[in-house]
Amino acid sequence: MSSAFERSVESADFVRSHAPSTPDIAVILGSGLGAWADGLDEVSFVNYSDIPGFPTSSVEGHAGRFAIGRRHGKTLIAMQGRVHLYEGYDPPEVAFPLRTMWQLGARNLIVTNAAGSLHDGLAPGDLMLIRDHINWTGKNPLAGENDTRFGTRFPDMTRAYDPELRERAHAVAEALGISLSEGVYVGMLGPTYETPAEIQMLHRLGGDTVGMSTVPEVIVARHLGMRVLGLSCVTNMGAGLGAGTLDHSEVQDTADRVHRTFVSLLDALVKDFPIAAEEDSS
Ligand code: HPA
Repeated sequence: MSSAFERSVESADFVRSHAPSTPDIAVILGSGLGAWADGLDEVSFVNYSDIPGFPTSSVEGHAGRFAIGRRHGKTLIAMQGRVHLYEGYDPPEVAFPLRTMWQLGARNLIVTNAAGSLHDGLAPGDLMLIRDHINWTGKNPLAGENDTRFGTRFPDMTRAYDPELRERAHAVAEALGISLSEGVYVGMLGPTYETPAEIQMLHRLGGDTVGMSTVPEVIVARHLGMRVLGLSCVTNMGAGLGAGTLDHSEVQDTADRVHRTFVSLLDALVKDFPIAAEEDSS
């Protein structure tokens, strides 16, 4: 059987043969944000289910595809639909989409998510830049044999969320008049929402927001040496902090309400994003 590296090469070759491009930035779009990528310039789409070896979602209504196109003179590859651990994927499958985008040339990642708030300082509708994360999923997508062509056995996670990109993001948000805090995202396995006791615990551990994505993706991206910018959209108060119980429609409704603000920030972040000049091979 071919290695994960060879399979990611095959997958990237397939995507390239349908949408020839070398992306500057990979973008993972969280709940309610997928439509943003439909409006990319010269956009084309590649369905995950058509890509050899690509993990296809078991969850209904999660079709999933790459949108490849341009925005503000930059080439983007955006994931419309992502792979979650709670769907039952093995670690290498969770890593696969990131590795495909990296094989295509993406060296930067903007990752977005919908998240619950862990304290009164963050309310539904607020946007938070991710400064750091806590991996509370109990899993790591890099567990198992390491292929050094992807990265080192023991990746450093000290500056997982790039300090320069965060500084620039704050300036971009301020210029747009968008209030943007900064904090720690806690990644859970899911699919249950947390208990009120867990929400209290996660806050005391230093978390500001909680969700079921992002952490595995950022671990894989850092292993690959990608620069990462992460954004949480607070869609609900964590369990026990609000009046009622939690359900997915509340998450969806808030994501819809904040959509315009989130999209204008994302768009401005792409515009401002510093792309390292290609090394001169001549
Ligand atoms: N908990 C976990 N994941 C989430 C939440 C939450 O409160 N909101 C959106 N995704």
